[in-house]
Amino acid sequence: MSTIKEDSHTVHQVVQEFQVTYSYPVLFTTHAFHEANPALTGVLRNAGCASQRIFPVIDDNVARHHPDWWRSLGRYVDHWGAGELLPPHSVPGGEAAKASPELIEHIYQLVADHRIDRQSIVLAIGGGAALDAIGFAAATAHRGIRLIRMPTTVLAQNDAGIGVKNGMNFNGRKNFVGTFAPPLAVINDSSFLDSLSPRDKRAGIAEAVKVALIRDREFFNELLSQRQDLARFEAGSMLRMIRRCAELHLRQIATSGDPFEMGSARPLDYGHWSAHKLEELSRHRLRHGEAVAIGSALDALYSHRSGLLSAVELHRIITLLLDLGFKLDEPILGDLDIRQALAEFREHLGGELCITLLTGAGRAVEVNEIDVPLMQGCVNALRDGSCLRPQDKATA
Ligand SMILES: NC(=O)c1ccc[n+]([C@@H]2O[C@H](COP(=O)([O-])OP(=O)(O)OC[C@H]3O[C@@H](n4cnc5c(N)ncnc54)[C@H](O)[C@@H]3O)[C@@H](O)[C@H]2O)c1
Ligand SMILES: [Zn+2]
Repeated sequence: MSTIKEDSHTVHQVVQEFQVTYSYPVLFTTHAFHEANPALTGVLRNAGCASQRIFPVIDDNVARHHPDWWRSLGRYVDHWGAGELLPPHSVPGGEAAKASPELIEHIYQLVADHRIDRQSIVLAIGGGAALDAIGFAAATAHRGIRLIRMPTTVLAQNDAGIGVKNGMNFNGRKNFVGTFAPPLAVINDSSFLDSLSPRDKRAGIAEAVKVALIRDREFFNELLSQRQDLARFEAGSMLRMIRRCAELHLRQIATSGDPFEMGSARPLDYGHWSAHKLEELSRHRLRHGEAVAIGSALDALYSHRSGLLSAVELHRIITLLLDLGFKLDEPILGDLDIRQALAEFREHLGGELCITLLTGAGRAVEVNEIDVPLMQGCVNALRDGSCLRPQDKATA
C-alpha cells in the first residue's frame, strides 16, 4: 500500500499487477475430420477441460457445401473418444452474421439449454464473418467459453480466423462491437477451400499482399512472381501464400508489443481505413478482401504522390493487384467521404490518427496526418482508372 498526499487530500493506493501468457497452436492440415488425422484430437487432449463437451457452430454455406461434415465429425469424436458432441447449430454465412444480435442471443440460449460451461468447447467452423460472430458469442457467454476455430475461407485461414479478436457490426459500422479473446487453437483445413467461389478465393489473397507490403519484401516479390499461378488459384501457390501470410500476421501480433491494440498504431490495418468504409458504402456487396485490395492500392498511390514511394514500386504493387484479378477502379470510391472515414478509423482506435503508408514494398511508415485534397486526387485517379493505365503508371 502506498500513500499519495496532495494538499489536504490523502489517497491510498494498492497496485494490482499480474501477467497472463497466451499460447495457442495454429495447425495446417487437410481433411481434419478424417479418423486418422491427429490435429483435432491433439488439441482436445491438450485442452485439459474437465467436461470436454463440444458445441459445434457452423457457417450455413459451409454446411451446405460439405453435407457430410456432421457425420464425419461424429465418427471422428467417437473414434478418439474425444468428448461429448452436442447437437450442432448453424448460423448465416457472410456479413449478415455480424449484424445480428439475435444470432448472438440464440447462441446464448443454446449455451443455457445445453448447460455449456467454461470448461466446454465451442467449435466454430466458417468464414471470417461467421467466426467473428460465433467468437463474440463464445467470448461473452459465461464471460468466455473456450473456442476452437476452423476457418473455411482463404481470408479466414490467413488472417481473420487466426488472431486474438472478434467483431460485430453496429448500425452499419464495421466491428463497432467485439472483444479480444485468444482461441484455444486454430485448425486450418485446406479441404474446405475447394468449395469456395473464385471471388472468395481471390479476396483472401488481398490480406497476403497487405501484410507483405508492410512487413516482408521477399514475400511481396514471391507473390509478384507467382501472380499468374495465384490468379488461377493453383493449389501449391495458394497453400504457401496462406501459410506465409498467417505466419506474418501471427508474428506481428506476438512481437508488436501491443497484441490487444491499446496504442494507436495498427499496421495490420494498412489500407483498411478506406476498406472498411467501402464495405459499408457498398452494403457489403464488396467482400472485405476486395475492399482491402482497393484500400491498399489507394494508400500506395497516396504514398507515391506524397513523395514516399517510387513510381517503380507503385507500378509493381498495382500490377500485382490487377493481375490477381482485383477491380481497383470501383465506382463506390465516388461516395467515399475521406474526412469521415479517417475520423471513424481514428475514433475506433482512440488517440491520434495513425495511418500506415509505404516507402517501398515491404517497408511501412506511420503518419499522423493525411492531406485530404491530395488523398481526394488519389481517390479520383483510382476511381476513373487514370492511374492504372500503362502510360500513366510510371508517373501516377
Ligand atoms: N477478427 C479478425 O481479426 C478479423 C480480421 C480480418 C477480417 N475479419 C472479418 O472477416 C470477415 C471476412 O471474412 P471472409 O473473407 O472469410 O468472408 P465471409 O466470412 O463473409 O465468407 C464469404 C462467403 O463464403 C461463404 N463460405 C465460407 N466458407 C466457405 C466454404 N468453404 N465454401 C463455400 N462457401 C464458404 C460464407 O458463408 C460467405 O457467404 C469480415 O467481416 C472481416 O471484417 C476479421
Ligand atoms: Zn482485413
